[in-house]
Amino acid sequence: MLVNYVKFSAVYRLRHWHSTAPRTQGVPWRPRPGCRMTKPDTPISGKSIVLVGLMGAGKTSVGRRLAHNLDMPFIDADEEIAKAAGCSIGDIFEIYGETAFRDGERRVIMRLLDGEPRVLATGGGAFMDSSIRSSIGKRGITVWLRVGLDTLVRRTRRRNDRPLLKGGSPRDILERLMAERYPIYAEANIVIDPKKNETPEKTARRVIRALESLPQEARP
Ligand code: S3P
Repeated sequence: MLVNYVKFSAVYRLRHWHSTAPRTQGVPWRPRPGCRMTKPDTPISGKSIVLVGLMGAGKTSVGRRLAHNLDMPFIDADEEIAKAAGCSIGDIFEIYGETAFRDGERRVIMRLLDGEPRVLATGGGAFMDSSIRSSIGKRGITVWLRVGLDTLVRRTRRRNDRPLLKGGSPRDILERLMAERYPIYAEANIVIDPKKNETPEKTARRVIRALESLPQEARP
């Protein structure tokens, strides 16, 4: 009987976490491994967390873990673009061209940013668009996963559906994209350097720590 009561009250407290907000104020929030609760008043309150970085940086896998740990919805912008177009990213590039893809990408990301706060993994080129950048700046916190060339090359080898890597040596293309894009990605609110062979879960936890320690004045 007593055991059941203790169990019930623990579950009740968890389920009604949001309604106990005043009592939790001032208590430092520490996500625990496996904990899916989000304290209402976190640095990310009301904002989406937007992952940026080159192809192979781990935006989708880290994003999924991040969303799980923060109990937020996760969405992959490329998947949404493909869904909206009714064909794959490769087909959009091949049939309609990159300009049409970028238009679709812009529209889809704007729509996603207008919705509820979520963890959003963007395609590697999205943050290069100034209007997407400025919308993310208003509605989200950007996290750049800064990954080295060797890792990007190794990871992108696992899939052959990335149209931009088909026009030559993937290493050369990625190196050129690093030179073009890293100065822009550097505008992100948070920069994370995942360690070699770090699991997405570990990287996600580092992102959470970085979100927590974002100085007040640096918060968007
Ligand atoms: C692109 C990256 C891809 C996809 C498209 C273009 C880019 O997404 O959006 O092929 O310009 O870097 P990932 O970064 O998720 O592979």
